[in-house]
Amino acid sequence: MSDRPIRIVAAAGSVRPGHFTGKALALVAEEVAASDDASIDVVDISGLRLPLPGEEATDDVKALQERFSAATGVVLATPEYHGSYSSVTKLLIDNLGFPSVLSGKPVGLLGVAAGQIGAIKALEHLRSVCSHVGAIVLPGPVSVAGCHKLFDEAGRCIDASTEKRLRGLAANLLDYIRGSICPRVALEEAARSGETQWMKRVTE
Ligand SMILES: Cc1cc2nc3c(=O)[nH]c(=O)nc-3n(C[C@H](O)[C@H](O)[C@H](O)COP(=O)(O)O)c2cc1C
Repeated sequence: MSDRPIRIVAAAGSVRPGHFTGKALALVAEEVAASDDASIDVVDISGLRLPLPGEEATDDVKALQERFSAATGVVLATPEYHGSYSSVTKLLIDNLGFPSVLSGKPVGLLGVAAGQIGAIKALEHLRSVCSHVGAIVLPGPVSVAGCHKLFDEAGRCIDASTEKRLRGLAANLLDYIRGSICPRVALEEAARSGETQWMKRVTE
């Protein structure tokens, strides 16, 4: 595990070979990795055996929950399928526990669609579910429209404004964590060490 203080876990809710959601997410991940204080762990859902709700949990589920539990922040990326987020994304969320390990974690959302209106519906539905499970859903989700025209054969983004928005999603999440999550963690640690010293004084 990286010794950088901020740990971002990200997942793309598509298992289609060469999916565009993963191509868009790769830029978010690249931006996180470029920072000095954050590491990125991108979960490849296609490589996991995730049971349907009610089926017996697999070893992959436990490992998946541990990865997300260790996250300071999360990025969930979904394709827009039939006017909503994908069933793969829902299966991921359903396998993150009940109560969910997403609870209390800041989550940035990314939606990717072939259509020109983008992934607005997918993002609205996903925001609602993430809030329901207790995640801190950050404002400013990024919706990518017409995704088939935005990446070259090698998967590189060829649209500067899309790339800027995708990198901005990472920057927003990291800024929120630096401003609101890390100070709290530092304060708790300071309070705990202060408490230890106080106890030492009265027991000596
Ligand atoms: C089952 C299914 C439903 C889809 N429904 C929509 C839709 O409602 N709106 C849209 O813009 N694109 C829709 N698409 C196209 C996806 O947005 C497109 O495949 C895009 O590349 C994002 O998905 P990907 O990450 O799997 O590539 C659909 C694709 C599939 C496979």
